Amino acid sequence: MLGCSIWGSAPPTPTRERKGAEWLELLLLLLLIFSGWVLTQQPVNCPRACECSETARTVKCINKNLTEVPQNLPQYVQNLFLTGNRIRHLVSGTFLSEPHLELISLNLSGNLLETVDAEAFAGLPGLKRLDLSDNALVWLSPRAFGNASSSSLEELNLRNSLYNASQVAVVAELLQKGTLLNLTHLDLSNNNLVYLPTSIFSMLPNLRQLDVHNNSLVGLHNVSLWGLRQLQSFNLGDNSLKCLRNSTLVQLHSLPWLSRLNLSHNPWVCDCNIEDMVNWLKESNLVEAKGSIKCSSPEEMQNSSLVSLDLSGLNCPEPTDDLTQLQTSYVFLGIVLALIGAIFLLVLYLNRKGIKKWIYNIRDACRDHMEGYHYRYEINADPRLTHLSSNSDV
Ligand SMILES: *[C@@H]1O[C@H](CO)[C@@H](O)[C@H](O)[C@H]1NC(C)=O
Ligand SMILES: *[C@@H]1O[C@H](CO)[C@@H](O)[C@H](O)[C@H]1NC(C)=O
Ligand SMILES: *[C@@H]1O[C@H](CO)[C@@H](O)[C@H](O)[C@H]1NC(C)=O
Ligand SMILES: *[C@@H]1O[C@H](CO)[C@@H](O)[C@H](O)[C@H]1NC(C)=O
Ligand SMILES: *[C@@H]1O[C@H](CO)[C@@H](O)[C@H](O)[C@H]1NC(C)=O
Ligand SMILES: *[C@@H]1O[C@H](CO)[C@@H](O)[C@H](O)[C@H]1NC(C)=O
Ligand SMILES: *[C@@H]1O[C@H](CO)[C@@H](O)[C@H](O)[C@H]1NC(C)=O
Ligand SMILES: *[C@@H]1O[C@H](CO)[C@@H](O)[C@H](O)[C@H]1NC(C)=O
Ligand SMILES: *[C@@H]1O[C@H](CO)[C@@H](O)[C@H](O)[C@H]1NC(C)=O
Ligand SMILES: *[C@@H]1O[C@H](CO)[C@@H](O)[C@H](O)[C@H]1NC(C)=O
Repeated sequence: MLGCSIWGSAPPTPTRERKGAEWLELLLLLLLIFSGWVLTQQPVNCPRACECSETARTVKCINKNLTEVPQNLPQYVQNLFLTGNRIRHLVSGTFLSEPHLELISLNLSGNLLETVDAEAFAGLPGLKRLDLSDNALVWLSPRAFGNASSSSLEELNLRNSLYNASQVAVVAELLQKGTLLNLTHLDLSNNNLVYLPTSIFSMLPNLRQLDVHNNSLVGLHNVSLWGLRQLQSFNLGDNSLKCLRNSTLVQLHSLPWLSRLNLSHNPWVCDCNIEDMVNWLKESNLVEAKGSIKCSSPEEMQNSSLVSLDLSGLNCPEPTDDLTQLQTSYVFLGIVLALIGAIFLLVLYLNRKGIKKWIYNIRDACRDHMEGYHYRYEINADPRLTHLSSNSDV
């Protein structure tokens, strides 16, 4: 405006000096406009701890010791990185006061996160990817994604997210709620899980990739896989599986799209119980690198490949093993008791003289005592003496 008025008052005489001044004014004007643009566009919408990029639609607030989600995030944000902060509690309605309709990806990895309340992620209707890895979750509300009957979430990363393995029950409750119908990727690896609740995967009809590697799962016979109609890849590597039973094999076989099953690095026990699994393994082509699946016990079978096992050579411990063990322990107990008894009798025999003396002593003591008692009885029974004592009372 300043530039305009000067410009307006000045006649357009093209002298050399005038031209220089005009250029200067133009430059000033441009500078003004530019700084104005900068002021309105950038800092207003970007929280102090963050870096915002409108072209990439990304906001990064990384390793800033934030304890809560910053407010006034720009509306254009599609990818929000809040990794490496100290957001311990994600409270109800964190995103509800200013909903981010565009947000697709939210990364909360490495935040010491302990609790995620109901509706913590409400107000994010387009959220597809949520990374909660490397946290210490104790509580993850089944209503974390709000009341909607279905969430848009497609990828959920819970790798090394749980405070301890017992929190798998909390995760199961969320997954079973029936609101994650669009979930395609689920990562539960590195959580020290020892079991999977029976119905944990029952409401995930679109799940394609399931990763539970590097846990301590000892068996799969209780978990139902029937609901995973779209499952393509299932990583069970680095667990404590000893054998897959028929009930599990039948379920795996029935999943129409499953084509990558990872069973490596498990302590398979190659006794007669593994026969069904070996037969299945020989025929199946679901299992990745199946030749590299090795027995880890018994010792003589160690490192043998499961698919090349000779089934007739598989031994089983005697089924009566426990019973015989119990019997031998009873026999042992009997022998010990008998020995103690014999020693006792021997001691008695060797001390027979002393014992005889001791018995006589006791007998004498008894007799003395009895005599004393008898004497007192006689005194009490004397009517004269009784009379005397009653008189003295009066
Ligand atoms: C975060 O906190 C740690 C320890 O308290 C400190 O060393 C570090 O400098 C802090 N980082 C920032 C970005 O404030
Ligand atoms: C989230 O951040 C962590 C740590 O920077 C990174 O390893 C991970 O790949 C990110 N996840 C997503 C989905 O971008
Ligand atoms: C969700 O439902 C609860 C009770 O069922 C209610 O208190 C809450 O306000 C609802 N939230 C929204 C966002 O509708
Ligand atoms: C789930 O996915 C389908 C197909 O991709 C989509 O039409 C639907 O809107 C999604 N549901 C939600 C709640 O986003
Ligand atoms: C797991 O954490 C809970 C607290 O949420 C605690 O009560 C429980 O004892 C812990 N379990 C183990 C095995 O440490
Ligand atoms: C396996 O998970 C544990 C935590 O449960 C972690 O400490 C360890 O580094 C993981 N191992 C690998 C190879 O990722
Ligand atoms: C497995 O299921 C059986 C019976 O269905 C039950 O007794 C047992 O406690 C379950 N085990 C686990 C680890 O859930
Ligand atoms: C199976 O998973 C383990 C991790 O548990 C990984 O190291 C290995 O490369 C995977 N095997 C295949 C064939 O992908
Ligand atoms: C497992 O299934 C196979 C084939 O269906 C059958 O031959 C075998 O007897 C079954 N094993 C057990 C322990 O039921
Ligand atoms: C099996 O392989 C491991 C590691 O490769 C080795 O330490 C062990 O001695 C092998 N056992 C046998 C019986 O060959």
